[in-house]
Amino acid sequence: MPTVILEEIWHYYSRGTPLKTLSLAGLNLKISKGEFLALVGPTGSGKSTVLQHLNGLLLPHRGRVLINGKDTRDKRFRKSLWSLVGLVMQYPERQFFEETVFQEVSFGPRNLGLTDEEIEQRVNEALSMVGLDRKNLWEVSPFALSGGEQRRVALASVLSAKPGVLALDEPTAGVDPAGRKKINEALARLKAEQGVSIIMSSHNMDDVAKLADRVVVLKEGSTILEGGVRQVFYNYPLIEKAGLRLPFPAHMAQRLNEAGFSAGGRPLTMDEIEDSISDVLSQR
Ligand SMILES: Nc1ncnc2c1ncn2[C@@H]1O[C@H](COP(=O)(O)OP(=O)(O)OP(=O)(O)O)[C@@H](O)[C@H]1O
Ligand SMILES: [Mg+2]
Repeated sequence: MPTVILEEIWHYYSRGTPLKTLSLAGLNLKISKGEFLALVGPTGSGKSTVLQHLNGLLLPHRGRVLINGKDTRDKRFRKSLWSLVGLVMQYPERQFFEETVFQEVSFGPRNLGLTDEEIEQRVNEALSMVGLDRKNLWEVSPFALSGGEQRRVALASVLSAKPGVLALDEPTAGVDPAGRKKINEALARLKAEQGVSIIMSSHNMDDVAKLADRVVVLKEGSTILEGGVRQVFYNYPLIEKAGLRLPFPAHMAQRLNEAGFSAGGRPLTMDEIEDSISDVLSQR
């Protein structure tokens, strides 16, 4: 059974005012246990709004959001939602509020009422997961770190509560290429861990092609295309209609095909496109 179900969700901002904006228009979405789903689409298409519905930060005006079968509108359930669904908002490091990395990352486990020993173990595990396992980091101020490290601390502070569902809003936005690589490595490690469901919004199609199992393309608050990564990124007309860029390997394959060569097999990784180019060269 899917872990997350969004049933015909409608949502408006500034409802009841002249500024009322429709943000989600009857959206349906399901995420299965252990699945990595990417949410893509032009700016304003509703990605952040969807993610904020997953932990009850926003509630739908029509339709329902079910997490493990429970409705986010249910007040009794809402209190425990934060530990079930970890939401990493865009630029999460802007919301640091503790003095040290340890305090920041231990906030969740402390609220779960764990023992000191368990809390330290959680902090250790979460920081290792994001590739920040230097012990001398614990007493450092999170603000003293580089931008990419801050982003990973923010991710660790959600991971330390061990949520079954992880919602990430553009986790690599504004991070330099080295930092981006580290974050993607952390996400790949998380994906390899059994059971965590991940839903990530992104404008970076190369990240999406590398990490996701399935892609949902949003436009104006509803889904215009949905499927496996290869199925979506090889639907050129719809990708263009949605105003999205192609991942680099898919773009190369398109160029080869336009030039009259056949790049078969829908390459999506650098290794795959290298193979396609070798094939093309050997055809000549
Ligand atoms: N706080 C808000 N108040 C009013 N309207 C909002 C608010 N937040 C978002 N909107 C509007 O809701 C719609 C969906 O916005 P949302 O932020 O979910 O899009 P997005 O896909 O995350 O965009 P981006 O790629 O720029 O992050 C847009 O029309 C946006 O202008
Ligand atoms: Mg957004």
